[in-house]
Amino acid sequence: MGLLPFDDRDGYIWIDGQMLDWREAKIHVLSHGLHYASSVFEGERVYDNQIFKSRKHSQRLINSADILGMKVPLSVDEIENIKREVLEANKVTDGYIRPIAWRGGEEMGISARDTKTHIAVAAWEWGTYYDPEKREKGIKLITSKWRKPPADTAPTQSKAGGLYMIGTMSKHAAEDAGGDDALMLDYRGFISESSSANLFVVQDGTLKTPTPDCFLNGITRQTIIQLAKDLSIPFEETRIKPEELQNVQEVFLTGTAAEVTAVGKIDDIDFTVGPITRQLRDAYEALVRKK
Ligand SMILES: Cc1ncc(COP(=O)(O)O)c(C=O)c1O
Repeated sequence: MGLLPFDDRDGYIWIDGQMLDWREAKIHVLSHGLHYASSVFEGERVYDNQIFKSRKHSQRLINSADILGMKVPLSVDEIENIKREVLEANKVTDGYIRPIAWRGGEEMGISARDTKTHIAVAAWEWGTYYDPEKREKGIKLITSKWRKPPADTAPTQSKAGGLYMIGTMSKHAAEDAGGDDALMLDYRGFISESSSANLFVVQDGTLKTPTPDCFLNGITRQTIIQLAKDLSIPFEETRIKPEELQNVQEVFLTGTAAEVTAVGKIDDIDFTVGPITRQLRDAYEALVRKK
């Protein structure tokens, strides 16, 4: 499955009201979303036939579009029904679902008032984001030269396609240097997140995570904070400087795709896959499959 191209598979993709054959789910080359990155999307996981936090993701898609001035022509309930249809059409019970909204080709230019918001939903079976062999050792992050922009420079609370440009460049650079993913600092030089997941550290028994003022406050991040509260783990949302990593024992990432992924190394600093990471990873894995 891993090497199968995403545009050449069996199955069905919902586009603008129609369930199309997977290979026919195409857009025109003169689409505003392609030229000017006017697109927003979601990434959701399906566990035992249930989408984890499904309504939160549908609402975030609508909010992400609103931030860009795009109107999603569907309600949360309608998006929920479409996602269900797509899972059933593709017989996906454990996998990933990708709704996306973009401005079409009705108008081509910076001003895009006459474009329509188009929507598609695709789903596929999917395993872990990182190599499962890294589970007990942790993945390796390499600090990127790219920094997360401030909230008055980019729409940082929207899950918008354009924001991933520096994510891809950072992840490629990390992989070229022998890492699994990038650690991204923000415009002030504080630790922010990886290319596609939020970051937590454990320092002397306290769980800490950066304040999400210029990156996505992930749904998994919010879930982990709640689990930490339920488990009475001391927690702090704060600013973390890269130098502080010297005094940290555990690091992990959280995201729909990444789930809870232990980090074993950032640049030259080693971490252990410690008790708080394991406790929260176990709690998260139990929660996502809870009936
Ligand atoms: C850049 C970025 N940060 C954080 C996250 C984590 O968000 P969530 O937990 O809602 O999947 C994601 C994934 O959606 C992401 O792409």
